[in-house]
Amino acid sequence: MSLDSRLAELLRPELADLSAYAPHLPAGIEVRLDANEAPPNPSVHVREVIAEAIAKTDLERYPDARATALREAIAKRTGARPEELMIGTGSDEVISLVLTAMSRPRAPAPAPVMLTTTPTFVMYRITARGHGYKPIEVPLDAEWDLDAGAMKRAIELVPPNVVFIASPNNPTGNKMSDARVLEVLLAAKHSLVIVDEAYIDYASASVRHWRADHPNLAILRTISKVGLAALRVGWIEADAALIGELDKVRQPFNVSATSQNAATAVLERAWDDVCAHAAAVKKERDRVAKEIAQLNVLVTPSDANFVWIKTPQPAAEVFGKLVQKGVLVRSFHHVGGRMTHQLRVTIGSPRDNDRLLEALAACVA
Ligand SMILES: Cc1ncc(COP(=O)(O)O)c(C=O)c1O
Repeated sequence: MSLDSRLAELLRPELADLSAYAPHLPAGIEVRLDANEAPPNPSVHVREVIAEAIAKTDLERYPDARATALREAIAKRTGARPEELMIGTGSDEVISLVLTAMSRPRAPAPAPVMLTTTPTFVMYRITARGHGYKPIEVPLDAEWDLDAGAMKRAIELVPPNVVFIASPNNPTGNKMSDARVLEVLLAAKHSLVIVDEAYIDYASASVRHWRADHPNLAILRTISKVGLAALRVGWIEADAALIGELDKVRQPFNVSATSQNAATAVLERAWDDVCAHAAAVKKERDRVAKEIAQLNVLVTPSDANFVWIKTPQPAAEVFGKLVQKGVLVRSFHHVGGRMTHQLRVTIGSPRDNDRLLEALAACVA
């Protein structure tokens, strides 16, 4: 398919380096541990609460443009104030909205700058590119922790508009050291520092309480990772005055009424069941990590619902053999360097995890 050259001239040049997201699902896959989704929640109560909320939705009406009930429900669960929250269709949309709003280039830089780590969640870079930002990616250290010194040097050299730090990080699974995140936060006083806590329900502690002392800190969250990815609900928590500005680029009806109502109902009436499920996944994570370590495979200590493993053979080889056995995980071998021996394995149901362990044992033997 070739694009009419007159139209091609109108496209952002950055698009030439990007590809549309295409899920990779080879034939014959029976166990999907590739997308950091939670396994199905066995709680009937969660399903009932959602079904009732959807059934009661006024289908002829547009959604609540301010997502009032949902923001209040999130506020109650997190300790934020409703006016400190902006909701998106997943945190993916929130990333895009923030980058849209914060994109004034800092003179003399010709373009706005987004600073993050590598490896990390790819949507920061992809979305930044699509919005005309210059992305800067600072490698994590040998333990996959934040290299605060290198981050600070980058901030001094090319002051960023926005800094993204995923903690726990995807794909490495570990929380970034609090002291290092704080160093970056202090060095980036003229930037918005977003700590992405998408996996916080599997970790020990959040840094959201730092917001009281650091107006440049924002927290990104989602309900996707605790078994509710289908609803597409994520949010940012930040200074209320900043939220007021960010909200100007949000489409009024960005989150469907069914999603708003379902998420509100779960947060209000079934959150204990969601937390119990996350706790069960955490327990499975620790079991799987221990068993993988017994295969002589290095496992990075995980604070998320997936594990980051160093394969003795090239990751591409192990990945291919797992696919042949019907198990799909995520490989990053195409990136090269230290990623050529790394795989990311999502924690699934106990049955799926057993399938993974059995297949992995055969692949790395
Ligand atoms: C670190 C991180 N942030 C954000 C997201 C996006 O989550 P959502 O489903 O809310 O768009 C992901 C999804 O994989 C993620 O890994």
